[in-house]
Amino acid sequence: MKPGMSLMKHYLQFKDLRAEEYTYLLERTAIIKKRFKNYEKYQPLADRTLAMIFEKASTRTRVSFEAGMYQMGGSVVHLTTGDSQLGRAEPIEDSARVISRMVDLVMIRTFAQSKLEAFAAHSRVPVINGLTNEYHPCQILADIFTFIEHRGSIAGKTVAWVGDGNNMANTWLQAAEVLGFTVHVSTPSGYEIDPAVAGVKDSGCYKVFADPREACRNADLVTTDVWTSMGFEAENEKRKQAFADWCVDADMMAVAQPDALFMHCLPAHRGEEVAAEVIDGPQSVVWDEAENRMHVQKALMEYLLLGRIG
Ligand code: CP
Ligand code: NVA
Repeated sequence: MKPGMSLMKHYLQFKDLRAEEYTYLLERTAIIKKRFKNYEKYQPLADRTLAMIFEKASTRTRVSFEAGMYQMGGSVVHLTTGDSQLGRAEPIEDSARVISRMVDLVMIRTFAQSKLEAFAAHSRVPVINGLTNEYHPCQILADIFTFIEHRGSIAGKTVAWVGDGNNMANTWLQAAEVLGFTVHVSTPSGYEIDPAVAGVKDSGCYKVFADPREACRNADLVTTDVWTSMGFEAENEKRKQAFADWCVDADMMAVAQPDALFMHCLPAHRGEEVAAEVIDGPQSVVWDEAENRMHVQKALMEYLLLGRIG
C-alpha cells in the first residue's frame, strides 16, 4: 500500500463501495480498457502478487483476474481447496494470516460469505469476493460497465431479474440501492430473494412480480442466471420443475423496451434459463459482459492497491 493511503479496503460485497467510488472506478475501467485495446503497456502493479483461492469451479473469474494481473505487471498464485491445506481443514483465519504476509491482494471464490469475511478479518491485505453463495460483486460491476457502454447511465433504469433469488440477484439489489435504479424481480415460489441476505435497506430499489413476463415489461435490461448455482447441485431435478416457466424467451424480450439488452453472467444453459434465440440474438451483450470482467477488475485491483490515480 502506498504511504499515506487511507485505510485498507476490502471488496466483499457491492455496497462496500460508495456511488462516487463507482463513478471513479467505471471511468478508470474505460481508460484501462482503451489502453488494452490499443496495445499500450500499463504496468502499475509490477512486483505485486495476487493470490486467487478457488473453492468452486471457474472459467471467467480465473482468466480475467489472472490475465488482468499479468497485464498490469504483477503475478498470481492460484490455489484450490484440493491442492492446498484449505482442503485439509487448516482454519481460514490461519490461512489468511499466512497468505496475506506473502502477497499484496487476495481474491476468493468460496461457499459461505462468512468464510470470506473471516479471511478478510485476519488479512493484512485487501480481499476481493470472486463469488460466494450470497454475492458476486465483480460480475455486477462488469454488468453495469457493460450497460453504460451500450446505453449510458443506469440511474433511473429498470433491470428485470428472471430466475433464482441467488448471489447474482442479491448483488443486483445492492447495486440498485447504491446506484439508484430499480430491479423487477420474478422468481419461482420458494426461491425468492431474502432482503436480509441481500442486505438492502431501501425496499424501493426492487419490486416483486409473480409473472416473469410482467417483470420484463418495459425493462431496459433483462437478465437471468442458471437455475442451479454451484453448491446446490443436489436440488437440480427439483429446480428444473420449479423453474420451467422462468426461461427468458423472445416473448419476454418483446414486452421489454425495444432497445432492451440481455445479460447473463455465464455459464449459460440454452433451453433452460434462456432461449438460444435470446442469448445468441441481437439484444444479447453476454460476450462484452464476460470480457468486461477483466477490465473492471483491473480498475478495482488498481484502486485497492494504489488508491486514486492522478
Ligand atoms: N460469471 C462467472 O463468474 O463465471 P465463472 O464461474 O466461469 O468464473
Ligand atoms: N449463480 C451462479 C453464478 C455462476 C457464475 C453460481 O453461483 O453458480
